[in-house]
Amino acid sequence: MTAAVAQTPGPLAGRCVILADAELLARHAAAWLLNRALGTPGRIAVCLAGGETPRPVYSLLAQSPYRDCFPWDRVHWFWGDERCVPPDHPRSNYAMVRAALLDRIPVSAAQIHAIPAAEGAAHGAAAYQAELQRFYGADALAPGRPLFTATLLGVGLDGHTASLFPGAAALRETVHWTAAVPEGTPEPRVTLTYPALNSSAALAFVVSGAAKRPVLQRLVRGDDMPVAHVHPFGRLNWFLDRDAAP
Ligand code: 6PG
Repeated sequence: MTAAVAQTPGPLAGRCVILADAELLARHAAAWLLNRALGTPGRIAVCLAGGETPRPVYSLLAQSPYRDCFPWDRVHWFWGDERCVPPDHPRSNYAMVRAALLDRIPVSAAQIHAIPAAEGAAHGAAAYQAELQRFYGADALAPGRPLFTATLLGVGLDGHTASLFPGAAALRETVHWTAAVPEGTPEPRVTLTYPALNSSAALAFVVSGAAKRPVLQRLVRGDDMPVAHVHPFGRLNWFLDRDAAP
């Protein structure tokens, strides 16, 4: 049962939904993604978050009832960022999504658009941008035609999202859709930039656990952090569990 739904002012503007625990949070996020997919005619582009928080969301999607209803044949899968590690490495966001979801649902290789980050951040960023532009069918993002149907993002303890870390040059990228993050730790990264993340018809931050409460409190206080500068074309949603809620 949703604990609280609020139209909150300030940085958590948009729709903030607070769920009683991590399990209900994962179910809410999975249902949101399913509803976005079912409400989208034709091709669906889903941009997935890495890290640990969304893993249970992806696992749920591979189970009934979500698995039975999801329009799998129309969905294309993308990532918001990737670590520069091999695609079977324990720290790979691709490997995490494969294990939690893609290996357990009907999907063709043509529907999976992994970030080729293992060859290095600069190469991965260039290759991923080319893939995104091929999929989108244009080299420039049109304001009224979002690249992604739905985007899931997490928030790091330092206020980063995707691999847009505080102070990273990628934060200042306003043209390219992707960026290399050589300063990423513990390994270099490839990330979508604000223009690409903002080109989402709907976007949801999924944040769980007491450890994330301080960063959300900082966000509500108006601290300048990368996560504060995500302004999607469509609706911005915050899905929190009670432990994380500021
Ligand atoms: C990554 C993610 C990153 C993540 C946050 C939160 O590659 O690490 O894209 O932005 O969403 O760091 O990570 P957790 O969900 O593991 O707390």
